[in-house]
Amino acid sequence: MKQNNERIALITGSTGGIGTALCRKLSEDGYQVVGNFRNEEKSVQLQQELDKTGHHIELVHGDVSDFDSVGTMVQHIETNIGPIDILINNAGITRDTSFVKMTKAQWDEVLNTNLNSVFNCTRHVIQGMVERRFGRIINISSINAQKGQYGQTNYSTAKAGMHGFTKSLALEVAKYGITVNTISPGYIETEMVMAVPENIREKIIAQIPVGRLGGPTEIAEAVSFLISAKSGFITGSNFAINGGQHMA
Ligand SMILES: NC(=O)c1ccc[n+]([C@@H]2O[C@H](COP(=O)([O-])OP(=O)(O)OC[C@H]3O[C@@H](n4cnc5c(N)ncnc54)[C@H](OP(=O)(O)O)[C@@H]3O)[C@@H](O)[C@H]2O)c1
Repeated sequence: MKQNNERIALITGSTGGIGTALCRKLSEDGYQVVGNFRNEEKSVQLQQELDKTGHHIELVHGDVSDFDSVGTMVQHIETNIGPIDILINNAGITRDTSFVKMTKAQWDEVLNTNLNSVFNCTRHVIQGMVERRFGRIINISSINAQKGQYGQTNYSTAKAGMHGFTKSLALEVAKYGITVNTISPGYIETEMVMAVPENIREKIIAQIPVGRLGGPTEIAEAVSFLISAKSGFITGSNFAINGGQHMA
């Protein structure tokens, strides 16, 4: 069996809060980590931060909402680094507004970035995983996929779509040693959540039984477990990590 240091993990949206925590944790676990980014400036800053802390991570450009851009990125990784064994579909955005005010552009942008991206990335890596008889795919969904959220019909739809994708693909590829699972974070202390006005954030925290936001490292720890060799019997599952805010 391959050791961690021979396995290559691609993390989309690596410049974000959860993505960066994933890069650090998986690098500490010994994987060869490739972090995807779309913003050049943010990638330079991230590379400097990771180098300072001794995390050796390759950063590669790609727009996950664009099938061809992902194809070019995957080809670049496979040619210059090696075959992708682990895919973490983490990139995501919000464009919140009540449905009666939602534009077609806000709907399309969120669906393309949060759900079509899962097709785009997975489609480009799955054949290699099937041929090599090993793969780990983790889709980062959201608490709001299951419980719904005012102002997030676009986001909740995209994140809920990940659950159907996870379960169906898990059925198709289990026989090849590939597992597919979803993690549904609750409110995690990242830019996405810190951008919410403070008075609304306080109301959110009041609804979380553990009495605080989650940390990005708490998501990274769960991913670390699910991609490990020990987790081969876990597939088609959803892991809710939300401080008890929603128990489905
Ligand atoms: N934070 C939470 O409380 C929370 C809760 C539930 C679920 N989640 C989910 O967890 C994931 C990570 O969230 P986060 O809090 O870390 O958010 P974040 O800090 O805003 O990071 C999102 C990342 O996705 C990248 N991204 C967006 N569109 C992209 C595209 N088209 N191509 C490539 N990369 C793209 C962003 O890059 P740019 O910076 O260049 O835009 C950024 O690196 C998301 O899917 C989010 O929906 C978060």
